[in-house]
Amino acid sequence: MKKILITGGCGYIGSHTCIALLEAGYDVVVIDNLINSRKKSLEAIETVTGKSLTFYQGDIRDKELLENIFKQEQIEAVIHFAGLKAVGESVEIPLEYYQNNVAGTLTLLEVMRQYNCKKIIFSSSATVYGDPEINPIPEDAKLSVTNPYGRTKLMLENILRDLYHSDQTWKITLLRYFNPIGAHQSGLLGESPQDIPNNLLPYITQVAIGQLPYIRVFGQDYPTKDGTGVRDYIHVMDLATGHLAALEHLENQQSLEVYNLGTGQGYSVLELIQMMSEVVGHPIPYKVLERRPGDIATCFANATKAEQELGWKAQFDIKDMCRDSWRWQQNYPKGF
Ligand code: NAD
Ligand code: UFG
Repeated sequence: MKKILITGGCGYIGSHTCIALLEAGYDVVVIDNLINSRKKSLEAIETVTGKSLTFYQGDIRDKELLENIFKQEQIEAVIHFAGLKAVGESVEIPLEYYQNNVAGTLTLLEVMRQYNCKKIIFSSSATVYGDPEINPIPEDAKLSVTNPYGRTKLMLENILRDLYHSDQTWKITLLRYFNPIGAHQSGLLGESPQDIPNNLLPYITQVAIGQLPYIRVFGQDYPTKDGTGVRDYIHVMDLATGHLAALEHLENQQSLEVYNLGTGQGYSVLELIQMMSEVVGHPIPYKVLERRPGDIATCFANATKAEQELGWKAQFDIKDMCRDSWRWQQNYPKGF
């Protein structure tokens, strides 16, 4: 049985990916320092799958711990989710972002090389496209970033490219996620923001359930269908199966590869609010405010490369995403 190390496996995308991997028959080892997650997500993974995984609580910057993991476990490949991810926070505390995301990944890569484990799938982001010149965005579009979080992702993409060029026995895949939303269909697992959410979807569900008074719609003067921002929302379980497809492809991969993981469809803020209102069965209050600094008008993926090369395509539509997010929100109004 192949054993995969999942860094950040207690977090939102990592925990859903653990489910997909366990269900596909992989052995899973998780390292997470729980800085933005709870151990409860592991219990939920085991309940959903009926399988167990191995958990190491700790930081990927702890070289000794990583060495112990690679000594103890026969790790075949790493899926690397661990990192900090809040754009606004990264502007406030950039050093913590560079330290965690960049230094953490360097330590991980050094230990992987030491133990001759040279297969890695890295969580990148559509944020590396900056304000895109064209939509849908293909993988070879121009890259640019405007905040420290995005810069850590672009730096890490470049570091991984340099690593591959120095030693082509590495097998490296960069996955650029668009906007992950939704939750596992069981309602036992979902996104569990620690404070008031920054992202739109968890904000909408918290207003819908009465924890927040109204949605703040950031700007209605963008050059889009209704003036509000357009994004490519993708179900987190589709992302999870995207990782599985990338993992299975990694073996035969001849070069470093980059894939967009998105649906290829863009929805506006108002469309998402409308869809969620239909799912919850009542209108959800919102107010239009000023634009949020740093936001772009439109961002959606050209997802054909993943379809052609990985045989992966998003299966869930926006209504499924809303329904599953809402089920999770109702079951766990305060998150884990
Ligand atoms: P998350 O915060 O839910 O998960 C990240 C996990 O990593 C958490 O469990 C956290 O405790 C852990 N972690 C952080 N730093 C660590 C460290 N130094 N050592 C060990 N564990 C550490 O975030 P997520 O939404 O699941 O995102 C996963 C990855 O995908 C991140 O790298 C993120 O940047 C990237 N990504 C997320 C989105 C998004 O919108 N959610 C979009 C694009 C890319
Ligand atoms: N929005 C609101 N109100 C809110 C939150 C968001 O109107 O309370 C709007 C934004 O202006 C934007 C859209 O909803 O038009 C989506 O915003 P999110 O904050 O949910 O997501 P972003 O597209 O800004 O960014 C997300 C992640 C980034 C990641 C990017 C691309 O937060 O880390 O997707 O993957 F890089």
